[in-house]
Amino acid sequence: MTTTSHQREQARLLELFPPGSSVEHDELLIGGVRARDLADEFGTPAMIVDENALRARARRYRDDFSERWPNSLVVWASKSLPRTAIYRLMNEEGLGIDVAGGGEMMMALRAGADPQRVVMHGNAKSDHELTMAIDAGVGTIVIDNFDDIDRLERLVHDEQGVLVRVLPEIAAPTHAATATGHIDSKFGLPVADAQRAIARLRNSDTLRLDGLHVHIGSQILDTRPFTRAIEAIAPLGEFAVYDLGGGLGARYTFDSRVPTIEEYLDALIATARECLPSNARLLIEPGRSLVAEAGMTLYRVLTVKHGAHRSFVAVDGGMGDNLEVSLYGQAFDATVATRVGRGENFTLVGRHCESGDQLIETVALREPRVGDLIAVPVTGAYCLTMSNNYNGALRPPLVMVRDGHVRVVQRRETYDDLIARDLP
Ligand SMILES: Cc1ncc(COP(=O)(O)O)c(C=O)c1O
Repeated sequence: MTTTSHQREQARLLELFPPGSSVEHDELLIGGVRARDLADEFGTPAMIVDENALRARARRYRDDFSERWPNSLVVWASKSLPRTAIYRLMNEEGLGIDVAGGGEMMMALRAGADPQRVVMHGNAKSDHELTMAIDAGVGTIVIDNFDDIDRLERLVHDEQGVLVRVLPEIAAPTHAATATGHIDSKFGLPVADAQRAIARLRNSDTLRLDGLHVHIGSQILDTRPFTRAIEAIAPLGEFAVYDLGGGLGARYTFDSRVPTIEEYLDALIATARECLPSNARLLIEPGRSLVAEAGMTLYRVLTVKHGAHRSFVAVDGGMGDNLEVSLYGQAFDATVATRVGRGENFTLVGRHCESGDQLIETVALREPRVGDLIAVPVTGAYCLTMSNNYNGALRPPLVMVRDGHVRVVQRRETYDDLIARDLP
């Protein structure tokens, strides 16, 4: 292989890592920190997130949205990376926070978020969670069903701003597990029911109906379903607020084509100008597209096995720290972190007791060996969120890197943590 084609390969791989990542002497650096130093200090598997990349993405969303529609707010879907330090960062960048449930709400408030800029979701909210939200002064609660209205009318004594989540009856082109806008979805109210909820809320003494909410799913790579969702809710009447949800996809592999934030917002705003009142306040709730590409996971190779039909590289993590593959069939890419480049094809598998515990079906890795580090980019969204203790795995740390500095924002779980709630 000539140096130039090797360098080209490395450059292509680097495109999937956070901006500012680099390769020096064939070794990956993220946020100015060498992969090997991160593994030595924090062990593996480890989730690494680049702070500059996160902040840049948050600002880009914020500025591009307000340029196009000044009366607007980007509300970060915090389920994508729910750790207090990340809530604080998003809050510092001026974003509102979308929370689903009491735990996320608690972290948002702990991080200093203004409760008025918190949007509370959930298709099954408990009295306890609603009371937490009301007591904290959460600005917006999204009504998903008629029981939400019953509960809130019982619990709210002053005034509470609400939105009605409408099912726009759009089957978004994404995995069935992440589609939420089709008629059969468990989320939101079909149009006829939404109309009944709107009529009821307009007569409520305590619930102030501010507007509508719509969210059609996640990892959507086409702008048209988003604009169709706006067209679907527009005939429901004129409101002060429209929350258009999240769902824009992230670029997980070199070949995938993902609309840019600007393309996505151009499409949304063009349709909003046509269909929605010009003085309305617009909200969007990006999660995945805001945080996924700022993160990566570092693993250690534990074995390389040549099977009958393929060769396996098995690492010290897997579905305990990345359920995206087994839940949604998400495709990822990877490289040996200390030998960045391509080589033979391998199947990258985890250490858990499931044949479905596969991180990548086929990935070209350069001479992977036992003890090598493997870097899997674009793991910033939903991986840490859904990390678990399958096979007694210890959930990984979250390490934030920035300009050569590192900060642990979640430490690795210990065996003591593992048994802390286990009462023999
Ligand atoms: C109500 C709501 N808003 C926003 C999001 C964020 O979606 P994404 O991470 O795909 O942007 C979700 C994700 O499931 C959601 O349920």
